[in-house]
Amino acid sequence: MHMATTLTVNGEQKTFDAPPDMPLLWVLRDILGMTGTKFGCGIAQCGACTVHVDGKAVRSCVLPVSAVASRAITTIEHIGTTPAGAKVQKAWLDAEVVQCGYCQSGQIMSAAALLTATPSPDDSDIDAAMAGNICRCGTYVRIREAIKHAANGKQS
Ligand code: FES
Ligand code: FES
Repeated sequence: MHMATTLTVNGEQKTFDAPPDMPLLWVLRDILGMTGTKFGCGIAQCGACTVHVDGKAVRSCVLPVSAVASRAITTIEHIGTTPAGAKVQKAWLDAEVVQCGYCQSGQIMSAAALLTATPSPDDSDIDAAMAGNICRCGTYVRIREAIKHAANGKQS
């Protein structure tokens, strides 16, 4: 059964019809046309679909849209407007993190949530925040470097 649903995505209200159990990822990509958030595994194992709900990193592939109706959703399309997101994106470019790119929106969303909650993360904080984001290209070393640069505010 479809129901009218209103979400707040990147500060804007979006109203659409969808089944209440439809995962948020499908709503973002197929209904709202926001394709920056990626589909990887569909079972909360890879992190490609990471978005923020009330500032926390979550896997949108397993999150029913009905669970987030009154919460603030932020996606990769908007993360550069937040202080942590802007720092992370700059550090990513400076460190040339990206290889194929497929996992990277999820990586950036997890890193931005980490730096918002923990502005000066140590290695174990980074491990805990980033463990659920898989990169088949193996960019992990550059991701760690970029997070540290973003945390230190280094402008290289
Ligand atoms: S697509 Fe959601 S965790 Fe892999
Ligand atoms: S950059 Fe290719 S999967 Fe991560």
